[in-house]
Amino acid sequence: MVTAGMSSAAAANGVDPAVLGRGRALYVGSCARCHVPVEVTSRTRQQWDEILPRMADKAGLEPVEEEEVAAYIDAVIDVAEP
Ligand code: HEC
Repeated sequence: MVTAGMSSAAAANGVDPAVLGRGRALYVGSCARCHVPVEVTSRTRQQWDEILPRMADKAGLEPVEEEEVAAYIDAVIDVAEP
């Protein structure tokens, strides 16, 4: 779920917290068509920078949807590693 902490982390990054809800829905929906949703914090930001474009391609995400998923991943990592 999108927690208050994640919303403030996103706001601090200049991201509209509403984007997180869409990013999360894509993450648990489109991203879990082929495999279970991967624990976000099991990968570093650097790893995600390489993985997400590759997976967004596989999932057929629009660029704006990829940004929403990226914002969700960022917020989860921000909260896990303040
Ligand atoms: C069409 C099927 C498919 C979809 C949709 C898909 N994945 Fe994957 N994913 C794979 C396969 C196959 C692998 C293992 C092979 C590889 O890494 O390419 C994988 C591996 C991964 C890994 C581990 C990669 C690594 O190098 O550690 C992560 C993290 C991941 N997916 C996240 C996502 C996310 C986030 C999305 C949505 C944007 C997504 N996947 C959508 C098929 C898919």
